[in-house]
Amino acid sequence: MQLVSQGGPAPRHLFVIFGATGDLSYRKLLPALYHMDEDPNAHEGHAILGVARAGLTDEQFREAAAKALAEHGVPRASADKWVSKTLYFQSLGESGAAQYRALRERIESLERKLDLPGNRAFNLALPLPAFAPTVERLAEAGLNKSPGWTRLVLEKPFGQDLSSAKALNALVHKYYPEDHVYRLDHYLGKDTVQNILVFRFANSLFEPIWNRDRIERVEITVSEQLGVEGRGAFYENAGALRDIVQNHMMQLLALVAMEPPALIEADSVANEKVKVLKSILPVDREHVVFGQYGKGMMGNEVVPGYLTEHGVAPNSNTETFVAAKLSINNWRWQGVPFFLRTGKRMARKMTRIVVTFKRPPVAMFDTYGACLFTQNRLELLLQPDEGFNLTVEVKQPGSGLQLQTQRMHFRYADAFGKLPEAYQTLLLDVARGDRTLFVRADEIETSWELFAPVMGQRPALQTYASGSWGPEASSDLVSRYGQSWTNG
Ligand code: BG6
Repeated sequence: MQLVSQGGPAPRHLFVIFGATGDLSYRKLLPALYHMDEDPNAHEGHAILGVARAGLTDEQFREAAAKALAEHGVPRASADKWVSKTLYFQSLGESGAAQYRALRERIESLERKLDLPGNRAFNLALPLPAFAPTVERLAEAGLNKSPGWTRLVLEKPFGQDLSSAKALNALVHKYYPEDHVYRLDHYLGKDTVQNILVFRFANSLFEPIWNRDRIERVEITVSEQLGVEGRGAFYENAGALRDIVQNHMMQLLALVAMEPPALIEADSVANEKVKVLKSILPVDREHVVFGQYGKGMMGNEVVPGYLTEHGVAPNSNTETFVAAKLSINNWRWQGVPFFLRTGKRMARKMTRIVVTFKRPPVAMFDTYGACLFTQNRLELLLQPDEGFNLTVEVKQPGSGLQLQTQRMHFRYADAFGKLPEAYQTLLLDVARGDRTLFVRADEIETSWELFAPVMGQRPALQTYASGSWGPEASSDLVSRYGQSWTNG
């Protein structure tokens, strides 16, 4: 984990990407691995083997990868140099037993040629239906074991619901002990997300007031301006609940609400996350709003509604927006509502946690006329404009006693410049063997369990205009508690 321990360089290893010719590989994994290699202390040496059905040669894969890196801002000459010394490719064709045996031979021959000691990471950047057969085939070919370490990196979604997640975990555990498994939720690699624990537990200021006595409510928003962007077919089987709420947002909620871990280390952190997730009351359908974006304006541009996006059924009832109120039934949080909201085609891109503190017990300034005041708010800005704001009331200068809300703020960009990409941090942690920023099997199962009532009986879908803050019903959900979403 980057902010807590820099760790030593990872030992020499082979990084194998399944789905190497896919979007995730070209857009995220290869750029992250390239940038990782800019740090001479990241590892003692590695090679990357791309694996996919396509019948590419090493050279063809290198060419495609260099092109993709250049599209992501890497100078073409550096990209060409890097791919030619680092990348290899093995076609899986029909993905049968014979091809997996050939894969094993290729891995062993590369390790001999490059003097790698048999440390291997297998990253499955594959669609969900391909996970199980790939895990089986790897094991049949004996690739779940190696002369060094073997690590299995699984990309979300981790199942489609509770039963499929349990089945996938059981299959994985048949061949890999949990501490060889790295379930990757890219939100956990963001520095601002890691900073939630640092903010809470490295500063003595907030922890004593981080509870039901001083906090009135917590809001977590993940809003995007983008629509489904050509991923309609994938999104039809996902929807916002599976795509964002069940994983990214439940991780954010766990980090905000968990108790301090005994150590900043994988199992201690996961134990606390599971404990708080288990304290959440099953989600009540009455407290969930599902929405779907219609046509609308994004800036000056008219954008189409979800139903007319490529790959989407014309009568689809897939949700592109979810708002929910959750309650945590433990000593710290009893009675504090946690409001969650996510959506595509929303007014602004914003990932933010807002903690609103209670009013002072006596409203003494009301006696001075029209002095309305705002409750103190801590806004953790996860993206964009990463940092935090703390709102405080101050006296306006001049006669009388008028109050004004001011924001104290910190911005990562001002203090540190550009932040690293989440994948860069996470893939380095895989190579170093640090699972702190990865998701344990029981975290996944517990958060699927919470949403089972809503997945079984879906709330009615409300349409919202693209470019808005979601359906009216989302504001109603919050106003039932005399409150409103913080959008400003
Ligand atoms: C992914 C989802 O996990 O997260 C996408 O599949 C979403 O639908 C993306 O757009 C958002 O990530 P970020 O880092 O831009 O907030």
